[in-house]
Amino acid sequence: MLDEEDEVFKEVLSSFPARRRYLIRILQTVQHKLGYLPEEGMEKVAQHVGISEAEIFGVATFYNQFRFVPLGKYHIVVCMGTACHTMGGQLILDGFERELEVKVGGVTPDRQYSLERVGCIGCCTKAPVVVINGVIYPKMTPYKVTEVLAALRDKDTEVSEEAQ
Ligand code: FES
Repeated sequence: MLDEEDEVFKEVLSSFPARRRYLIRILQTVQHKLGYLPEEGMEKVAQHVGISEAEIFGVATFYNQFRFVPLGKYHIVVCMGTACHTMGGQLILDGFERELEVKVGGVTPDRQYSLERVGCIGCCTKAPVVVINGVIYPKMTPYKVTEVLAALRDKDTEVSEEAQ
């Protein structure tokens, strides 16, 4: 766990009473601040509210609002609702997994990209659809997966060159 993450746990835990009924709010607040729940911090939460770490994981996994891996700088969401799936959504998902060498639900080691699949996001006429940091990429193809990732990498290169 990073030092900043450790600080967030200290700050959040000191702002909530040491009671089990605050567990969900504690987890929500940590996730709001960090974007995910680092597994190493769950022991601190367990000690604070006086329940086992296993119970905390049980609660946190019950609510699918919680995630245990960080979001990447670019969070890629592949729609796998019926329309997108029918129009080749699996090929798009496979394409991102292959290009990024990361499995769905994971994040690349450099935390640049995280990959997730979701059900219908409500724009089926544009299937298959991908959303990256809130921007919709319509009518995706495996070829476009390569193009989109190349564009994101180019953008990062431009930014780092401008910073020099
Ligand atoms: S199924 Fe993908 S947007 Fe509806």
